[in-house]
Amino acid sequence: MNWNEQEWHWTNESRMVILTGAGVSAESGIATFRDSGGLWENHRVQDVATPEGFIQDPNLVIEFYNQRRAELAGVNPNPAHLSLAALQKKLGEERCFLITQNIDDLHQRAGSSQVLAMHGELKKIRCLNNKNHVIDFEGKQTRDTLCPECSSLMRPHIVWFGETPFEMDLIFERLRNCTHFIYIGTSSVVYPAAGFRDIARSSGAKILCINPDGSGVPSSDFLIVEKAGEALPALKLA
Ligand code: APR
Repeated sequence: MNWNEQEWHWTNESRMVILTGAGVSAESGIATFRDSGGLWENHRVQDVATPEGFIQDPNLVIEFYNQRRAELAGVNPNPAHLSLAALQKKLGEERCFLITQNIDDLHQRAGSSQVLAMHGELKKIRCLNNKNHVIDFEGKQTRDTLCPECSSLMRPHIVWFGETPFEMDLIFERLRNCTHFIYIGTSSVVYPAAGFRDIARSSGAKILCINPDGSGVPSSDFLIVEKAGEALPALKLA
């Protein structure tokens, strides 16, 4: 369905949930995962993004995330991140709840005051003992990087395939209570995030997808087939 501001019907009572994926950071210069030239074309998921891969070759996994973390130093938020931060500032966190699958920090650097990073964050690492201390981290992790709280070994604070994303109870609660749901720059193939639009839809929410690849989007969803950094600054969502 083509975008139509009247039918979007935003009111003072409305509450929005926004889900972003790798496409939101593409215009900042960070490769997506599944587009041509994407990260998973050059790396085997099972080697670098699973608990089994980490057990088998921790150095390879640590170095993979060191490279991702180093990339962040050379990129900046783009107009998509900035527009979403401005929207959240206007509406407040209660009425504009932002969930990202991205592990970069570009929403935060754009000024978003609330960002639920459901797949973890590159700029955090956590210890491997059951206390799960999470610490802010910049730079290069090695096998010798120890937890400042308990001296145990550390791992990237990333949700790998086979692991449960963070804060799922809060996410489900927000999805059940939203009136508007927007998903931007995600291929919608990785669950549970891929199922969020259906949960929001069954709560009666209006749904908007922004993606330059409009294939596979249900015809009942509003669809904007454009890059996020071009579409978002021009849209009146609230
Ligand atoms: N603006 C908006 N969308 C874009 C842009 C852009 N400029 N460029 C590309 N896209 C879209 C692509 O069309 C694609 O649908 O972004 C999507 C990127 O999809 P994926 O690479 O699959 O990324 P994502 O959906 O975020 O992946 C989900 O999978 O690999 C795991 O944990 C990782 O969080 C990731 C999850």
